[in-house]
Amino acid sequence: MAFKTLDQINLRGQRVFIRCDLNVPLDAAGRIADDTRIRASLEGIRHAMQQGARVMVTSHLGRPSEGALEARDSLRPVARRLSELLGVPVPLVEDWLETPFDVPPGSVVMLENCRAHAGEKGNSPELAHRMAALCDVYVNDAFGTAHRAEATTEALARLAREACAGPLMASELLALGRALAAPERPMAAIVGGSKVSTKLAILNALAQRVELLVVGGGMANTFLLASGQPIGKSLCEPTMVDAAREVMATLKARGAHLFLPTDVVVADEVSETALPAIKAVTDVAGNDLILDFGPQSMRRLVDELHACKTIVWNGPLGVFEIEKFSHGTRMLATAIAGAPAFSIAGGGDTVAAINQFDVAAGIDYVSTAGGAFLEFLEGKTLPAVRALEDRAH
Ligand code: 3PG
Ligand code: MG
Repeated sequence: MAFKTLDQINLRGQRVFIRCDLNVPLDAAGRIADDTRIRASLEGIRHAMQQGARVMVTSHLGRPSEGALEARDSLRPVARRLSELLGVPVPLVEDWLETPFDVPPGSVVMLENCRAHAGEKGNSPELAHRMAALCDVYVNDAFGTAHRAEATTEALARLAREACAGPLMASELLALGRALAAPERPMAAIVGGSKVSTKLAILNALAQRVELLVVGGGMANTFLLASGQPIGKSLCEPTMVDAAREVMATLKARGAHLFLPTDVVVADEVSETALPAIKAVTDVAGNDLILDFGPQSMRRLVDELHACKTIVWNGPLGVFEIEKFSHGTRMLATAIAGAPAFSIAGGGDTVAAINQFDVAAGIDYVSTAGGAFLEFLEGKTLPAVRALEDRAH
């Protein structure tokens, strides 16, 4: 990899600033709903502590207004969870740019939500200068935020005395790079989600690359509409039909295959009490909402995935949060986990589905990233990674 990594630097007694992505989902009561990102960040933090560094960890949480941190955007619950996982106290430093603080060698503090500072989102060099003054070594271990050029992810990487990638950043790039650079073929991508408009770039990029493209979730309806099927009152984006046709044309020109369901699970509302029915796509009626792939489609898809050598997965096939509309996504998750292919998955909904169906062990690499995962697969250079690479020369 074309950047320095944490293990290459002597950290003893050094002030080490680690930018993590600890942007975890919180429930209505402000409790951490999933701590995967905290666990995934432990390796770098532990390493720096064991080397005798004075460790500062920060992250953004949510999308606070700059200069106005509200209680719900505080990293306090994250600091508490990190403390439990490390088994040592993790004090939260609130006004870390204004008030001097001390970190003894071998210990760690958490610096309050970095996105609350004016200039963070705008990638302000002035702000990054003030942060650079706090540390001897800057570590970026926040792959999940690598698609954002912000002061703690980009400008600071250029201004800090020494800059390197943490172990999570390095392993994400290695695993995803493997799936992208020289994938074993056939390669399949499954992309679900509600809107074609938000995933059009990744669909176009994958259409150039894969042998099998599976479009799931609400997006499948737009593709069904584009191929002349009735979709009733299902979620769809009529203005994206032409874009969907272009994706289909790209695949066809390469001899690649678009997988759409031939049977679906429909209901007249999205609710726990809705009455589901399985229908051929050609029989979808005016009052139907398509809420999942049907069993015949899933048997076909499972077979096709079993023949693949590389599988990339982002997004559910149906409304998997509701049990009766979860079978397609469950079968998909199980099939990917059981397939001989090298498999990678990423995105918040996808990780939730992987955990819900308990298939993590069968998937070769589960990324902690959502947006960064997709932009990397699109073939974009992530600004935070570029900044680290530039420091290596
Ligand atoms: C994510 O959750 O995708 C990352 O933490 C980035 O968060 P953001 O979309 O608010 O920049
Ligand atoms: Mg996001």
